[in-house]
Amino acid sequence: MAGRARFWHRKTLAVSIPLVELHCHSEGAASPDFVRACARRNKISLPDNMFTSDGAYACEDFLHFLSVYEAACTAICTPRDYADLVCSYFTEAAHKGLIYGEMFISSDHPADAGIEYTDFIDAIADGYERAHAQTGVEARFILTCVRHFGVERAEQTAQLAVKYPHPLVTGFGMGGDENWGRPADFTHAYDIARAAGLGLTVHAGEVCGPQSVSDCLDALKPSRIGHGVRAIEDESVVKRLAEDGVTLEICPGSNIALGVYDIYAQCPLLRLRNAGVRVSIGSDDPPYFHTDIASEYAQVQKALDLSEQDMRAISQNAIEAAFCDNETKASLLEKLNR
Ligand code: ADE
Ligand code: ZN
Repeated sequence: MAGRARFWHRKTLAVSIPLVELHCHSEGAASPDFVRACARRNKISLPDNMFTSDGAYACEDFLHFLSVYEAACTAICTPRDYADLVCSYFTEAAHKGLIYGEMFISSDHPADAGIEYTDFIDAIADGYERAHAQTGVEARFILTCVRHFGVERAEQTAQLAVKYPHPLVTGFGMGGDENWGRPADFTHAYDIARAAGLGLTVHAGEVCGPQSVSDCLDALKPSRIGHGVRAIEDESVVKRLAEDGVTLEICPGSNIALGVYDIYAQCPLLRLRNAGVRVSIGSDDPPYFHTDIASEYAQVQKALDLSEQDMRAISQNAIEAAFCDNETKASLLEKLNR
């Protein structure tokens, strides 16, 4: 399982093409320093064992990661925290080449902290608008339920999007423990989100195998799958993804840190692409996995021996699958091909 040694081989590499990311979690983008500062300011005590002796997030396996993540979320508990987090993520990512990013936002964590949904969304929008004004980066947000928080909360989350539509909140997703419940339990939540006009994605084929991917396709009918890499273990699921034009949000550094693969070269991104599946690259929870979106692009390019044209095609896939309007897509494609 992932020890710190896993990260030693990660040299700083660079790619010069415009980066597009469809898979990064807001709280997952919070550095340990940011979380400790929030905890101090908000007078929240954090468990000592969530950090390693040198101050990084402890991350032993998937369930341990989820528990450390949940602990970190308790410290991020004011609108200001969310606004600053979103602003600093997109400003820094834009400096590394990001032109468009989609970020998962969970309404459960701010609700637990007593923040009204509309205040939460206003804070997210404020953070994004500051980053956009400074750098020109574009972003949209994916309202996300947490699978192991249960079906009722998932449906309540989807209802929030119906009750309080916002132009920056354009998608609905589900993360959390992929082993919890069955995808069909969440069909109603996804139907609510679909009827609200949101783009749909779901984490699947990350921890569980290809059956989890096909069950999600059957029950939830998403246009994208978060991760989805373990679809590679069943040819018929790969064929289905290709034929249905489903885009995978592949996060190789996350898969390595959580023990799905040992090294970038084992990531099936190229095999999936060669089988006709549309693939994109995401950073998932970058400080947890000692990575960022620029590093993910660079590591994939190096490990899979991809050309600059291949990498541009990955950014192009992401733009085509993005949960944004056609005018924004056209302007992103123009930036990509400039
Ligand atoms: N929430 C944040 N990161 C996640 C991941 N990699 N898988 C499932 N849920 C998550
Ligand atoms: Zn994720």
